[in-house]
Amino acid sequence: MQFIYGNSTTILFGQGQIAAIKEQIPTDSKVLVIYGGGSIKKNGVYDQVAEALADHQWQEFSGVEPNPTAETMDKAVAIIKNESIDFVLAVGGGSVIDGSKYAVAAAKYEGDGWDILTGKHTVTEAVPLAAVLTLPATGSESNAGAVITKAATKDKLAFLSPAVQPRFAVMDPDTMKSLPVNQLQNGIVDAWVHICEQYVTTQAPDIMVQDGYAETLLKNLIKLGNTFEERDDSWRANLMWTANQALNGLIGSGVKHDWATHMIGHELTALYGVDHGRSLAIIQPSLYRNQIDTKRAKLEQMGQNVFGLEASADLAEKTIEAIEAFYHSVGVATQLTEHGSEKEQAVDDVVGRLKAHGMVALGEHQAITLEESRKILESAIA
Ligand code: NZQ
Ligand code: ZN
Repeated sequence: MQFIYGNSTTILFGQGQIAAIKEQIPTDSKVLVIYGGGSIKKNGVYDQVAEALADHQWQEFSGVEPNPTAETMDKAVAIIKNESIDFVLAVGGGSVIDGSKYAVAAAKYEGDGWDILTGKHTVTEAVPLAAVLTLPATGSESNAGAVITKAATKDKLAFLSPAVQPRFAVMDPDTMKSLPVNQLQNGIVDAWVHICEQYVTTQAPDIMVQDGYAETLLKNLIKLGNTFEERDDSWRANLMWTANQALNGLIGSGVKHDWATHMIGHELTALYGVDHGRSLAIIQPSLYRNQIDTKRAKLEQMGQNVFGLEASADLAEKTIEAIEAFYHSVGVATQLTEHGSEKEQAVDDVVGRLKAHGMVALGEHQAITLEESRKILESAIA
């Protein structure tokens, strides 16, 4: 076992915690509150944030879209620079938090912010950032990653930097009460796949903590899926915390990572506007069938420890069927139907984008070449 683990984000968890922002942001800071399309204005979150910031000097930037674009966030960058903003508070889901991560990093860079996504600029400094989470799914509230889209070219790319790790994250499960059902379903699937990307890789019997914790989180999600219709305070709190723990760095420490489902899924979102969680449910089962030989041992472990399946020669195959059945049980489809073109054209289009983005050797063994991605897409696209 060998790894460096740290997570510097202070978590303020529970009902009423938005009020605590007051003490978390220095009163002499000039704050920019960034939010999305306005859900926070309808569910009372905006009012709670405004009340907490009553003693601060603050202004706002709204209109961050799902799958945030550099084009939109560049307008926030201009405000941060022109108004000498020295603290940004992102209030929303993964898109608002990711968009804000881009903004706080780009504000400390003189060139085009998109350089951060292409790797031309490495982020080493950023304006301090914190988050009020309203949608449990991405883990962005306490990690260093962000995914940004360039609308003009439909490129959806990620960057990672410790400089954009939120200083604190408010996680009040009450904010989830206004979430549409499909966003809750997406969140369950996204958290599930985050765990899988760090767990269904190689079998590492010596990594007992990470493996055992990943299995606990997966079992939580199954339980939450099974009780979806009886959602209450405890259900919401447990989903919010489980989704956070799925991608805060802990279960990924010292283990091999996959992320191929995410990389191919991002192309489906960029090309066809498929919700992030849905893109993952479409790709993952086909990808696991394609990679079954290298993933067999871990799929068997997951089958027994997570789904309670009996040992059998086809246990890995049965585990993939169980994953698919889980997605269907929470109302998420596992085939792409949103492509407007013929299937062959859609497969060509996605493979073309993967090639353009250098996604030519994906997965924990870099074994998913464009040829394998093509096979995966053949069965994932209806
Ligand atoms: O914009 P508003 O009006 O707030 O509406 C949003 C949006 O339309 C709405 N919503 C959020 N909280 C709500 C609410 N509606 C009612 N009540 C609430 N409490 O939900 C819609 C979707 O929001 P979004 O932020 O797009 O969803 P999510 O949190 O799933 O974020 C998805 C984005 O995160 C990226 C994805 O690629 C995608 O761009 N990811 C970020 C990661 C990270 N930073 O670590 C990892 C993930 O794998 C993922 O790639
Ligand atoms: Zn994800």
